[in-house]
Amino acid sequence: MSAPNGDRPAFWKSARAREPSTRRIVALLKADDRLDLVELNQAFAGRLEQRFQSEPTFKRAADRARIHVCGIESFEAERPYDFIVSGLPFNNFSPAFVGRVMDAFFNFLAPGGVLSFFEYMYVGPCAVSSPEAPSAHASKTSTEF
Ligand SMILES: C[S@@+](CC[C@H](N)C(=O)[O-])C[C@H]1O[C@@H](n2cnc3c(N)ncnc32)[C@H](O)[C@@H]1O
Repeated sequence: MSAPNGDRPAFWKSARAREPSTRRIVALLKADDRLDLVELNQAFAGRLEQRFQSEPTFKRAADRARIHVCGIESFEAERPYDFIVSGLPFNNFSPAFVGRVMDAFFNFLAPGGVLSFFEYMYVGPCAVSSPEAPSAHASKTSTEF
């Protein structure tokens, strides 16, 4: 990845295990890049871990990638990030929670860094089991996509 500020780490937020875009980001990592993947769901994180052990593209980047099994709201970033990519289901969160996550993202971001986020269209409710997530929204969720 071309870092806007040198060799700071890349940060891939919320990495569902079978997502092709995760593979593409992993494939783009250069020798000095770092990748932190934050995923709340233990099962998805486990699938990712497997991929870093078994798939050639992932294996090549395994020494530069770390998987953090936690909510983004409790993730403690060690350093500023040049890139943050988020696939969080913001539409399932309360405005207050989205605001806290956005504040955290901008705190994590290096000066000149890039924050990207996306959500899928035409999918069912997303898994939201964070203790920070409001119960009114949790009632709309499931653990399957
Ligand atoms: C719609 S999926 C997108 C997954 C992935 N980023 C992708 O590219 O397909 C949303 C993901 O966000 C995760 N998630 C939900 N709430 C989260 C939170 N508070 N912190 C971290 N991950 C969370 C879910 O477990 C799920 O894997």
